[in-house]
Amino acid sequence: MSKITDKYKLNDVMYSREQIEARAAEIGRQITADYAGEEVIFVGILRGAVMWLSEVIKSVELEALLDFMVVSSYGEATKTSGVVRIDKDLTEDIDGKHVIIVEDVVDTGITLNYLKDYIGSRGPASVKVCALLDKPSRRQKPVDIDYLGFTVENIFIVGYGLDVAQRYRNLPYITSVTVVEP
Ligand code: PRP
Repeated sequence: MSKITDKYKLNDVMYSREQIEARAAEIGRQITADYAGEEVIFVGILRGAVMWLSEVIKSVELEALLDFMVVSSYGEATKTSGVVRIDKDLTEDIDGKHVIIVEDVVDTGITLNYLKDYIGSRGPASVKVCALLDKPSRRQKPVDIDYLGFTVENIFIVGYGLDVAQRYRNLPYITSVTVVEP
């Protein structure tokens, strides 16, 4: 059986840990200013959002609640199925609350488009989006990203929560990947 490292080659660092942490801190401070005096609930979309969410909230000085959804539309595939599956729903009651959905990447926009409607139907006071990466060239459904880390080209990237075949999510930086063995 071939190893994942035989199949995928990691290229040079694209966004370093320091760059990502600095951007996350800026966004955390911006959220603190935008929601001054308010309570906010951060909804992390697992699994990809785990690192980015953790980094952004370190710089948020507000009454902050955390919740998570597990959502999938890609499975093991690199192409979206177009159907968003909720594997774990919200735990908290978000009625009347300010919600910030946190994602690792907005690609076709299908996931966030669906989630904004879904979460919006639960009576929140507001719904905003915070994403580490945006790939606008891949968009099929419109999505407004209120707090964005970086915009990237349509290339295959991993790290900081993003995976290939569930691997490399733990890399503390973002890098592109070359497929060695298709
Ligand atoms: C990825 C990513 C987003 C979604 C973005 O999730 O985390 O949720 O795809 O793609 P879209 O804009 O084309 O909908 P994935 O289904 O790979 O699950 P994961 O978070 O566990 O990696």
